[in-house]
Amino acid sequence: MTIHPAELIQRKRDGGELGDDEVSELVLGFARGDVPDYQMSAFCMAVMFRGLTSAETLAMTEAFVGSGETIDMAAQLGRRVVDKHSTGGVGDKTSIAVGPIVAACGVPLGKMSGRGLGHTGGTLDKLESIPGFRVELALDEFIAQVRDVGMAIIGQTADLVPADKKLYALRDVTATVDSVALIAASIMSKKIAAGAEAIVLDVKVGDGAFMKSLEDARVLAEAMLELGTRAGRDVVCLLTDMDQPLGNAVGNALELREAIATLRGEGPPDFTELVLTACSRLLALSDLGIDEAEGRRRAEDALADGSATAAYERWIRAQGGDPSEDALPRAPIVVEVEAPGAGYVTRLGAIQVGLAALHLGAGRRTKEDTIDHSVGIVCRRKRGDDVRAGEVLAEVHARDEASAAEAAREVLAAYELGEEQPKTRSILLDERSSVSAA
Ligand code: URA
Repeated sequence: MTIHPAELIQRKRDGGELGDDEVSELVLGFARGDVPDYQMSAFCMAVMFRGLTSAETLAMTEAFVGSGETIDMAAQLGRRVVDKHSTGGVGDKTSIAVGPIVAACGVPLGKMSGRGLGHTGGTLDKLESIPGFRVELALDEFIAQVRDVGMAIIGQTADLVPADKKLYALRDVTATVDSVALIAASIMSKKIAAGAEAIVLDVKVGDGAFMKSLEDARVLAEAMLELGTRAGRDVVCLLTDMDQPLGNAVGNALELREAIATLRGEGPPDFTELVLTACSRLLALSDLGIDEAEGRRRAEDALADGSATAAYERWIRAQGGDPSEDALPRAPIVVEVEAPGAGYVTRLGAIQVGLAALHLGAGRRTKEDTIDHSVGIVCRRKRGDDVRAGEVLAEVHARDEASAAEAAREVLAAYELGEEQPKTRSILLDERSSVSAA
């Protein structure tokens, strides 16, 4: 190794810039195990405070991509493959519903997902609630499944972007997740390596998201659009509300149930709206040659005629899982959280609900932690709802009475009730895109 990690950490800490080769060697050295966790953690913390320039972000993204293999989906399938990714939120099971709908509409979707980070859940953890489901497919299995079944969602294998996989786990437990540059490089490297030509990115904004303000979310969106454009991909960024949990369910198996209900057309309104919006954009970016309005119509039809559910079942079976809802684990204890008085829900803090779920065991506090897939929270009332005293605000699903009582206190504290109904806020707050005319 020709670089001296301590010098690079110091330079970044003091606000200096690293050369492309230095970023690349640091990232690849970390992936090989030559740069230890403690130095990479210190580097990430320096990035938290100093950021990365566009050139450094690009060099990091390219190093992530270069740390493993890449797939050329268009060459493998002779089709334009689409992909979708979220920057992470609370109750975000969007991909699990979007994939089967898009596949049911005849558009192949191949996606590489991550695990939970901090208070946000990860798609892979949710999918592992399904008995038998395999998130680690070999690359040739992944490609064959996208071709034959219409979709696949896998974890980062040792083959694709191993450097990001390793760094993602480290950032999770060192408070170095919410940096625009690190998130942009992490997400876009996975998208570029997995080979989709058209990508919809769901950039979460608000209390439960890594980006707290619309302004910051726009900066992240622009950074990802730039990386996508440089890699020749069409990218649409949806900036969406994460000031309260998405949908009702938070926690792995609970979220799976909600995604399955949504595929039958029985999902919560905010979640269903986001899913249909993402599908309309993906279908419009695909090789079907349709616009967003037609994409939305086809996505709605897939919910209504059962083809989205059939695509879900095909997908889960293809990855070794049992698609029936009864196969999902259930927590032994369910406690209801009641409204202490009457009023409108003026606030439902996403981060508080996310942390309550984490404390129940739905997420990890250290990278070695195991997850309890059955536990979590179902928010029966959301912002703007009118509640009576004693009405159920939420359910806590827990493994024992003590953790249920603690989570119930945390969930209650996440609710604020007031006399005035808050203004309705649409799930889609803004949109940015970089799509080639071709
Ligand atoms: N999702 C990712 O894939 N990476 C991040 O860094 C944050 C969210």
